[in-house]
Parts: sequence; structure tokens; C-alpha cells
Amino acid sequence: MQKILMVCLGNICRSPLAEGILTSKVDSDLVYVDSAGTAAYHVGNLPDKRSIQIAAKHGINIRNQRARKFTEQDFDNFDVIYAMDQSNYKNIKSLARSKEDEIKVKLILNETHPEMNDNVPDPYYGGNEGFQNVYQMLDKACEIIASKL
Ligand code: 4NP
Repeated sequence: MQKILMVCLGNICRSPLAEGILTSKVDSDLVYVDSAGTAAYHVGNLPDKRSIQIAAKHGINIRNQRARKFTEQDFDNFDVIYAMDQSNYKNIKSLARSKEDEIKVKLILNETHPEMNDNVPDPYYGGNEGFQNVYQMLDKACEIIASKL
């Protein structure tokens, strides 16, 4: 079983979408996908309504997800940890206890554009277009991730 963790700041906008999209592209007997946030603001909450809506528009249900905070234990429980942006990436890496932990952390958009270190923009304070844009970016990246699993 390959275990993949998607991480953003609040675990209500970007990483729940990434979790839902990748889950929809893989065999659940072979791949386990989860998500978490580096901050605790929204722990226990449903994904943002706008993420729920854009996912539903593409036939993906993310309403069963609840936000949780990233913990050190996640380094033991997952094989790959995808950060949505450079700030999340640095925050996750700062919790790494070993080189082995560190090499698990990747920027998700480097799957689409290797070594560019692009960020999935935080759509929280913007409008619906931001969520559409994030969806498209994550769909491309997850397609590549799924094709390599
Ligand atoms: P996310 O978006 O990291 O994609 O879940 C955010 C959600 C909430 C906040 C910031 C970003 N916030 O400041 O509450």
C-alpha cells in the first residue's frame, strides 16, 4: 500500500481537493490518500463550501473529510508528503526528524513543472475562479502522480 499525504495551511481548501482528486484516480486497494494542514485554525471542520462545490461539479465528493493538523507522526505513516506551496513545504520540513523524513516532502506542482517550485495559490480570500484554477492545477498534478503509481 502506497500512502500519500496532501498538505496545505488550513486543510479546508487546497489539500482536501488534492485528496479527493487523487483518490478518484487511484485504486483504493493499492493507494491510501489523506490530507492535513500545517495550522490548526480549522481542525474538525468540513472543507470550504467552495472546494466542496468545485469537487462536486467534477463528480468528486469531499464532504466526508474533516480538517486535521499535520503531525510528526505523519512522517511515519506516509511515503510521500505533498505540500501545496513553499510556505507549507518549509513548515513541514522544519518538523522532519531525519533525512528520511525530509526526502518524503515534495512540492506538488513540481510533478507538473519539475524544479519550478510553483505554488498552488491560496484561494481562501478570493472568489470562485480561484477554486476553479486550483482544481485544474491539482487535477493535472494528480493525473501525473497517479500515472506513476
Ligand atoms: P488552505 O486555505 O490552506 O488551502 O486550506 C486556507 C484556509 C484558511 C486560511 C488560510 C488558507 N485561514 O487563514 O483561515
